[in-house]
Amino acid sequence: MRMYDIIEKKRDGGVLSEAELYFFARGAADGSIPDYQLSALLMAIYLKGMNAEETVILTKAMAESGDTVDLSAVDGITVDKHSTGGVGDKTTLIVAPVAAACGVKVAKMSGRGLGHTGGTVDKLESIPGFKTALSREEFFAAVNKNGLAVIGQSGNLCPADKKLYALRDVTATIGNLSLIASSIMSKKLAAGSECIVLDVKTGSGAFMRSRRDAYALAQAMVSIGNTAGRKTRAILTDMDVPLGKAIGNTLEVIEAVEILEGRGDPALYEVCMTLAANMLELAGKGSPEQCRALAESSIRNGSALEKLALMTASQGGDRSYIDNPSKFPRAKHSFEIKAERPGFVGALDALACGTACVLLGAGRVKKEDIIDPLAGIILEKKPSDCVKSGDVLAVLYASSPALFEDARALVSGAFSITDEPFSPASPIIGTVG
Ligand code: URA
Repeated sequence: MRMYDIIEKKRDGGVLSEAELYFFARGAADGSIPDYQLSALLMAIYLKGMNAEETVILTKAMAESGDTVDLSAVDGITVDKHSTGGVGDKTTLIVAPVAAACGVKVAKMSGRGLGHTGGTVDKLESIPGFKTALSREEFFAAVNKNGLAVIGQSGNLCPADKKLYALRDVTATIGNLSLIASSIMSKKLAAGSECIVLDVKTGSGAFMRSRRDAYALAQAMVSIGNTAGRKTRAILTDMDVPLGKAIGNTLEVIEAVEILEGRGDPALYEVCMTLAANMLELAGKGSPEQCRALAESSIRNGSALEKLALMTASQGGDRSYIDNPSKFPRAKHSFEIKAERPGFVGALDALACGTACVLLGAGRVKKEDIIDPLAGIILEKKPSDCVKSGDVLAVLYASSPALFEDARALVSGAFSITDEPFSPASPIIGTVG
């Protein structure tokens, strides 16, 4: 079989066979297909699409491209959660500890930043000492002891996705339903959890901008999960506006701790409680109302915050940063974006903020780029907030003032100011499954 022929077939709109999709996934995993041919096929898939059957086969081929985790050694119901990617999306840092504090086991494999969106692995690695690569034994021990562990695609888990994810990040081939569904669901199937909650983002900062496309993605992923025998549900959430106030790795860890302390942005809190309650419900912890109350009580009684600290310590990190987030270092330089006129913040474009954050150093432009954990943005005002002329709308953080050049235009253009007051819409849009 030749990669050239597979690229040509998809370029011309053909349907790839099971053998061809397995050849592609295996070649991505073992390095036998060069990056330029993998990227060419990704672009052909992005442009021509794949049908439902091709998507399911690619998901299986990627899940089987490396080791799969058998979680039967974990004591209790295992629940996983994954987001399709957004700006300021630090929900895993909150939801995984909440679910673990409520008695379910979270054994999670997460990703790095992708395009203009952040990734949990990059955020966790901004905690000094935190290891996202654990051996199988360490991973099981951590889940059994603390109820949760979050790792990257370390070892040989889904190596095909690891390679393709990094290539999609830098070749403008992220936002395709089949590529997103197979990337996420291959990891979820390989990671072995019995229940899966998917956070499908929609809006300007999401890979699926329209609600219609987001619903289609949610349906595809829920159907792949259920067919594979996993209880799967998707929650559609808003990504027109960045989630929470912080964007950038260290800044987002600090904001996650704030939410776990019972403070912080109401939209972020609402998305986290909805996701956590759904995880608990799938795991059989009670009715939707009981699960919501359980999740909220873990914030009030501090048990969820303690879980984040325990996870940090057991993955080699320094828990004193979670106990006292003011210990985190700050970026050397900052730049304030100010309101030019009074009114109410109307739109706040998530894509512009996410792109600005990458330019500030918080994301990757090339596959081998090293990110700056301190770079990012704090949004001082969010939609519906009242502003006076000269009020600070956002503060940008970077290691060099030169990095503010392009980012500041993007962030000031992301804000629109309106004359009429309004109430912000709920960040929860719908549920599938
Ligand atoms: N998250 C993933 O793991 N993969 C994608 O393609 C998008 C978001």
